Amino acid sequence: MGADFVVVANRLPVNKQVAADGTVTWTRAPGGLVTALAPIFDSQPGAWVGWTGSADSSDDPHVDGIDIHAVPLSAREVEDYYEGFANSTLWPLYHDVLVKPEYRADWWDVYVEVNRRFAEAASAAAAPGAAVWVQDYQLQLVPAMLRELRPDLKIGFFLHIPFPPFELFSQLPWRREILEGLLGADLIGFHLPGGAQNFLTLSRRLLGAETSDAPVGVRSDFGTVRFGDRTVRVGAFPISIDSAGVAEQAAAAPVIQRAEEIREQLGNPKTLLLGVDRLDYTKGIDVRIQSLERLFADGRLDPADTVLVQLASPSRENVESYAVLRDTVERTVAHINGTYGTVASPPVRYLLQPVPRDELLAYFVAADVALVTPLRDGMNLVTKEYIASHPDLDGALVLSEFTGAAMELDAAYVMNPYDPASTDDAVIAAVTDDDAERRRRMAILRDQVMNNDVDQWARSFLDTLTEE
Ligand code: ADP
Ligand code: G6P
Repeated sequence: MGADFVVVANRLPVNKQVAADGTVTWTRAPGGLVTALAPIFDSQPGAWVGWTGSADSSDDPHVDGIDIHAVPLSAREVEDYYEGFANSTLWPLYHDVLVKPEYRADWWDVYVEVNRRFAEAASAAAAPGAAVWVQDYQLQLVPAMLRELRPDLKIGFFLHIPFPPFELFSQLPWRREILEGLLGADLIGFHLPGGAQNFLTLSRRLLGAETSDAPVGVRSDFGTVRFGDRTVRVGAFPISIDSAGVAEQAAAAPVIQRAEEIREQLGNPKTLLLGVDRLDYTKGIDVRIQSLERLFADGRLDPADTVLVQLASPSRENVESYAVLRDTVERTVAHINGTYGTVASPPVRYLLQPVPRDELLAYFVAADVALVTPLRDGMNLVTKEYIASHPDLDGALVLSEFTGAAMELDAAYVMNPYDPASTDDAVIAAVTDDDAERRRRMAILRDQVMNNDVDQWARSFLDTLTEE
């Protein structure tokens, strides 16, 4: 029969638990996308097509309320499609070529093959006339492949990472194929108008397609690409978080109590700085640690009463550039602790492990200043989670202008991560501004985040996709 609503994403929204006796149970993973889509899955039968996250897995996950379709990947496909083309070609190319993308025809071939498998699985999962929403850079060929199999479907695509300008995207040997793959969709969404604008320019210049001229707005003034006998719409839909949910969880008594305990365990520092990221070279983790070191060296911050907690979640560990970053970060942390710490109180506390949700929220609540310093980031949800965790308007946010979030959140202490002076000054202002100024800024940030949540993101995209 099939589902009327199908999500296609590289990863499935499931967590696997294996009990001591070997019994396997699956739960819904609490990720952003599944939280966003939960109300839609609750109101109609929905399916999710994706990979379990392990190679050669025969896992067959089941969770309440979502019809799960697992797409298996072999160890070689994980290497060539996931670690290779997705994360060593597209990820760095779309993030300003921060590391050099590798262009390998053998990886491309496997990317095509795996995208075809996802398209076939989506086709099998979808009811006649269903809305199918394809997610992110791993699956950019799926829209056109799916349209060929199932012209009856409404197909949407959303890119969760930046979409680069002509000057960078044109490096890609398979640039036309990627654009044509995306143009199989009826609606293509980006976080920012700039990404949509880049897509229009590329469609015009590389495919000779006729495109609209007017500027693209936020959730409005969509662009169009005339491609073959179809018109594809292109728009900006900035993603967000479950703002009310995060605010409520962060205000719970055990979280507040744990936040106090964390500060105590850290020796009640005057200033607690916080970074929370996947360990990724786009995130500028080194930028913030180096800034801290300069601020200590220049005497602008005192290592005796300042602590930086850096929570880093291991990511894509088989990809060389991630291993290199890990070495750099760990060396820098050791250096700064060796130089400015005491045995009892190193100024940087670094964890390389994912932290449970409640514990993470306690860190958000405890921190005086969040340091969000990416060299490039599509949106950055940590920013919004930190803001939602501060209902009392305490706390301050240092935010890189190279994040999607900076477009909406310009009341933060905005900095240029390529400019050490700008970075240092933003950190100092966030730490030393008086309460009134910090609260004034946080009030503006909170209005933005509490009034634009992830439900609005999902609904505005899906309403646009399905409107006649
Ligand atoms: P990205 O999608 O590139 O990883 P985002 O900031 O948009 O970056 O989203 C990251 C998500 O992962 C957020 O919800 C954040 O809270 C979570 N996260 C990041 N690092 C950790 C960590 N060390 N422990 C637990 N959760 C983390
Ligand atoms: C970013 C990407 C997602 C990806 C996530 C985690 O948010 O946009 O598509 O799922 O990072 O990365 P991973 O490679 O572990 O799926």
